[in-house]
Amino acid sequence: MQIVSISSLKGGVGKSSVVLGLASAALEAHVPTLVVDLDPHGDASTALGVHARPGHEVGTVLRRPRKGALASVATASSWTKHPITPHTVPAGPGAPADGSSTGDGARAVLDVAPGSAASSHLDHAAFRTKDLKRLETALRGLARYELVLIDCPPTLSALTRMAWAASHKVLSVAEPSLFSVAGTKRTMTALAQFETSRIWAVPEAGVVINRVRDDSVEQRHRMRELQELFGPLVVDPVLPDLSVMQQIQGAAWPVHRWPGAPAQDLAQRFGTILAGLTR
Ligand SMILES: Nc1ncnc2c1ncn2[C@@H]1O[C@H](COP(=O)(O)OP(=O)(O)OP(=O)(O)O)[C@@H](O)[C@H]1O
Ligand SMILES: [Mg+2]
Repeated sequence: MQIVSISSLKGGVGKSSVVLGLASAALEAHVPTLVVDLDPHGDASTALGVHARPGHEVGTVLRRPRKGALASVATASSWTKHPITPHTVPAGPGAPADGSSTGDGARAVLDVAPGSAASSHLDHAAFRTKDLKRLETALRGLARYELVLIDCPPTLSALTRMAWAASHKVLSVAEPSLFSVAGTKRTMTALAQFETSRIWAVPEAGVVINRVRDDSVEQRHRMRELQELFGPLVVDPVLPDLSVMQQIQGAAWPVHRWPGAPAQDLAQRFGTILAGLTR
């Protein structure tokens, strides 16, 4: 089982969007996947068509984690019920009218451990070292999944450190903008400190560049800066800034099943990033 955190100590750069794109790629590639929504806002859960029920969310499991306990809250994403090939763009926000399952879609595994305000009790900087094992314990022995994607909050909280401690890889998401470059530096420095504490090793880190626009001189400058700072860690391909991304998320739909060339371009990019992760 490959466990990957999607993290950044800067808000709104596209962490949840990258989780959703990779989850869509995993569904398409039939990689059995669990999305763990560590963000108390629960954005990824919402876009995956799953709503936390009181007592059945990540925060409750992390209060008293038992081995493999996340299985008890894992809920199938509504994406597994979408038709494989969309014939029309779904009308307006929300799920398609028929909600029908198709053969492959019904078999594919994409579960969500839903996020909610119940995890807020761990969204603070203070932690005891032994607390950092909570998520790792709750994930241990989950044989159903080949891939776990963890959507992190934008803070260096106990939640984020728990995610890093449980992960084989950490992807930091960056936009080509001044504040985001600074946020990526913060993230990579914190990760390096976490690793050199020698309590946990983070074997691999990468930087996913999101919301790239070709028409911006400022963005081109920041792209060069990101390459200079993180060169070998920068994930190929980068992700373009496309308004269809927001449309797809608003409809709680997987990008791989959204019609049109821009969505196909995004889907292909997420597929390539996933292939690099699961190689
Ligand atoms: N490549 C993209 N093209 C267009 N819009 C995007 C792209 N990536 C993200 N967005 C939009 O940017 C907004 C923020 O993205 P998202 O919620 O994924 O960021 P986040 O890092 O998870 O935020 P937070 O720190 O609040 O959890 C959303 O409205 C999302 O739809
Ligand atoms: Mg988010």
